[in-house]
Amino acid sequence: MAKAITAKTVTVIPGDGIGPEVMRATLIVLKEAGAELDFEYQLGGIAAVEAVKDPLPKETIESIQRNGIALKGPLTTPSGSGFRSVNVAIRKEFDLYANVRPAITMVPGQRYADIDLVLVRENTEGLYVGVEHYIGLQGDPRAAAESVMIITRYGSERIVRYAFDYAVQNGRRKVTLAHKANILKYTQGLFLDVGRQIAKEYEGRVEFEDRIIDATAMQLVRNPYAFDVLVMENMFGDILSDLMAGLVGGLGMAPAGNIGRDVAVFEAVHGSAPDIAGLGAANPTALILGAAMMLDHLGQLESAGRIRTALRRTLELPETRTRDLGGTAGTDAFTSAVLRNLS
Ligand code: NAI
Ligand code: MG
Repeated sequence: MAKAITAKTVTVIPGDGIGPEVMRATLIVLKEAGAELDFEYQLGGIAAVEAVKDPLPKETIESIQRNGIALKGPLTTPSGSGFRSVNVAIRKEFDLYANVRPAITMVPGQRYADIDLVLVRENTEGLYVGVEHYIGLQGDPRAAAESVMIITRYGSERIVRYAFDYAVQNGRRKVTLAHKANILKYTQGLFLDVGRQIAKEYEGRVEFEDRIIDATAMQLVRNPYAFDVLVMENMFGDILSDLMAGLVGGLGMAPAGNIGRDVAVFEAVHGSAPDIAGLGAANPTALILGAAMMLDHLGQLESAGRIRTALRRTLELPETRTRDLGGTAGTDAFTSAVLRNLS
């Protein structure tokens, strides 16, 4: 029988540090799970600086533009000085406004069982627009520094609407908007006002609540079951999505989709983990889950489901877990177990 879907070409950026290790594992799993994909390899980050002296080469941008879909390994960003984050540059270039970060229990024996949360983070505005400068005073050129938080009605509307549409499409019951409108009355106040307006359009279909961000952090740790879909501006989402990853076993378990109108880029939440790079110890689950999100996005639901089932089976047994989860398996042993569990 002819296959229903023709292979989709995906831009693949292996990335820095543990990137190539977890990407290799992910591509093998995708292939064995029957995903209908062709891979187009491109450079980004330190690897690209070393090869062509540009952290985000034109070829890479053109490839993502052409394919509309990319799978990306972590890219190293130098702190403080040095080139600006390539991750942020990609999000800006393609206006990938929605950063979708699920936190789902797959490893038994964690602090909580059966966590199933999704954080929708605004990905283009807030403090991460990079409007920053120093202020010189009395001969000290860096006496002070200033960052500007930018929140627009347009940006707030589309991210909150994305969260509600996601809830509707995925049969979820509630959207929580987390904010700091009590202190940041203009920026966060606008986000909250817009959120309340959009929520009215979904009344009767999806429940809505708003909460102060710090109280949300506390409540997520005390009773994560009080939440379902969460939506917030950029930096709050960055921080709380790591917190949520901690509820389900850590960064090795947390995938992310960066979604725009024409382009979507899937990745792991974690970075290039220089401390374990090259040791064959990295947990590839986060990137594999990111690849499963990509398959969902492309409508290849069956392969996505097979991958998630194989991951669950692998993570059930302590002996096939990686070290970050208290196990002893390296990347290769873990990946081999996932492949066995696919069949
Ligand atoms: P990180 O996420 O790379 O590492 C934090 C800790 O988690 C380390 O101890 C690391 O060993 C561990 N870890 C992360 N992923 C793991 C995995 N798959 N398996 C096992 N252990 C894992 O964060 P860090 O160290 O703050 O950042 C390193 C670099 O990555 C920086 O240059 C940063 O800018 C970049 N980064 C890139 C991201 C991206 O490409 N989306 C996201 C976050 C950071
Ligand atoms: Mg982060």
